[in-house]
Order: sequence, then structure tokens, then C-alpha cells
Amino acid sequence: MYTGSFNTKIVITDNWLVEISKIKNKVLIIDSNIRLHYNEMLTPLLINTRFFEFNASESNKNLNEITKILDFFQTENLNRSSYVICIGGGITTDIGAFTASIYKRGCRLILIPTTLLGMVDASIGGKTAINFNGIKNNIGTFYPAEKIIINTGFLKSLPEKEMKNGWAECLKAALIKPLKLMTLLESKSIKDIDAIVREAIAIKESIVRDDLQDKGNRRILNLGHTFGHIIESISEYQISHGEAISVGICAAAYISMKMNFLAELEYQQIMNLFDNFDLPVKLEQKLADKIALNGKRLLKHDKKKTEDYNFIFLRSVGDVFVYTIYEADIIFNLFIDYLKQYIH
Ligand SMILES: NC(=O)c1ccc[n+]([C@@H]2O[C@H](COP(=O)([O-])OP(=O)(O)OC[C@H]3O[C@@H](n4cnc5c(N)ncnc54)[C@H](O)[C@@H]3O)[C@@H](O)[C@H]2O)c1
Repeated sequence: MYTGSFNTKIVITDNWLVEISKIKNKVLIIDSNIRLHYNEMLTPLLINTRFFEFNASESNKNLNEITKILDFFQTENLNRSSYVICIGGGITTDIGAFTASIYKRGCRLILIPTTLLGMVDASIGGKTAINFNGIKNNIGTFYPAEKIIINTGFLKSLPEKEMKNGWAECLKAALIKPLKLMTLLESKSIKDIDAIVREAIAIKESIVRDDLQDKGNRRILNLGHTFGHIIESISEYQISHGEAISVGICAAAYISMKMNFLAELEYQQIMNLFDNFDLPVKLEQKLADKIALNGKRLLKHDKKKTEDYNFIFLRSVGDVFVYTIYEADIIFNLFIDYLKQYIH
């Protein structure tokens, strides 16, 4: 698989340790939970390789940690032909890739995502980011990795809550381009996780390939995310990303139906799909009320807003489009309508 002119090679293999052990001039940035869970397996690699252990949290995805990683790079005398290999979830690959992209104007980069979300979404497509002044992903670069190595064996230790974040992104990919992925997900043949990951990557890769800089069609990947970000933010991050995106996508489907883009039957099918994966389609009354009161302000600050609002809606499963509108009141009211109908 190749991503744009940067030619990211993506491999799914359980032989990843052998692959990276062969690389000579390298350092690792490793998620501390991966070190904890896989210490025995990693020991031979860590004995011979300098590494930076990163405690993955949104509050650590910041400039302060960047400084520490840059210090580490300098101490290790990294040059532009050195490999930075990031092993961890989306937080670790985002901050690791960002640092690799700015040190000496760019080192060689390999990502080894260890969460489902990291495998199907965060590591794919070349976006790097850190949070700044309380704003999520406010600073970043486009810096696709040279190689992404995926070993779904890592998912065995991933908590269920984190798996759900990944499932929400897999379902989103299947709604955008159902292809084989929808069949795999509908049959819940989740035992074949490699096939699901491969199909979800192929979908994201096919979209970002032609729009690496996120100026055109790549925006359809934001399906459910405008509403999801409002939910996450107003819940003060008590609602996880996957849960928020799940409600956000169902709300986008509801609005699509109310605006006569999407048939009611398909809307119901989408709701059932999320329900089958035990992903939430509704929020508590208190949170819905809070969103009704403060959500519009956040909508205005949505980073994707240029002069107009760009919402992502569905005409049908497999037909997702950017809907541009100058005034967002009608859409916001439909969003609140949705939340108030599906209270639990
Ligand atoms: N760059 C992009 O295009 C892009 C896209 C989507 C999301 N993101 C970013 O990704 C981040 C979220 O990533 P995430 O969902 O992977 O979460 P994460 O990186 O926070 O990982 C979740 C938790 O699981 C732990 N963990 C990781 N792998 C594990 C494993 N195999 N076993 C046990 N524990 C493990 C981590 O230490 C962490 O505590 C966000 O910061 C988001 O902004 C980036």
C-alpha cells in the first residue's frame, strides 16, 4: 500500500521484532503500557537499542514532552538518516512522528501502532500533532512514515474501552466505503481482525492518497467528528472519543434523514450497526441539556470551519459528502433534536 508521493509501505505481520531488529541506526519511542505488557518479548530489543519511554496521555501530548524527546535525539546524536521508530497508540505515534518531522528537518520514521484506532486511523495518512494551550491537535505537520508495521497481536492486551474507539473508526470507514469491510463487520466475524484492519486501512489510504493535505475529499473522514468533538468537549472528556464519534455519526445520519438525503430504513440500519458493536447511540439527559446550551459556541470554533460550515452527511451507506452551509442553526437544532430523542 502506498500513501501519496511519500510511498508509505504498510505491512501486517507478526514478525515485526525481526524486521526492526535488522535496522541499525535507530531509536525507539515506546508507550510505557507496551513496555509493561510486553517487557519479556521486548527485552532483547531494548538491551541493544536506545529508547524513550513515553507515558501516553492527552495531557502529555505537549511541547514539554517534545523538548524531552528532542533532548533525547540530540544526546543520541541522531542524524537525518537515523530511524525513529514509534511503538504505541495514537498519542505516542502522533507525538513521536511530530518530533521526528522537526528534528533536523526530518528523520526517517517507522510507526508500529498498538491500538485498533492507531492501526486503522491515527498512523495512516501522515498527520502528526500535539495539543497546545488546551486545544487538541493544535500544532502538527504532514509527515507520512516511511513504513507502518502492524501486528494485531498487540490488541490482546488492549482494554475493551480502547477497542471500542477503534471499532467506531472501523464502522465509520465501512459507512464511507462499505466494500468488503461492511460484510466483515456485519457478520461480526471479528475473529478475522487482520482482514478487518487491512480493509479499514485500504479505505482510509484510498481517500488520503489523493488529498494528503486535507483540502478536499479527505474531509469525508470527519463523518461524525464535528458532533463528536462537541460531545467529547462538553462531557469534559468523560465520554471517550469512540463513544462520542459513535453518537456523532448516528446524529449525522439522523440529520441526513431529516434533510431528505438518507432513507429512513438506511438510517435505522446505521443505528443497528452501532448498537451491535455495543457502541452508544444516545447520551444522558444532563449532557444533552448541556450541549443544547453550550454546543453552538463550540460548533463555531470547530477548526474545520473556514468561511462556511462543512458538515459531513450521508445520501446512503457508501455515499458520504461534504455539505457546505453559511448558517448552521438548522443543523445544530436537528443535532439537539436527535440528542433529546435518544436520551437514556
Ligand atoms: N494523526 C491522525 O491522523 C490521528 C487520527 C485519529 C486519532 N489521532 C490521535 O490518536 C490519539 C488516540 O489514540 P489511541 O486511541 O490509540 O489512544 P492512546 O494512544 O491514548 O492509547 C490508549 C491507551 O492504551 C494504551 N495502550 C496502547 N496500546 C496498548 C496495548 N496494545 N495494550 C494495552 N494498552 C495499550 C496506551 O498507553 C493508552 O493508555 C488521540 O490523541 C488522537 O488525537 C490521530
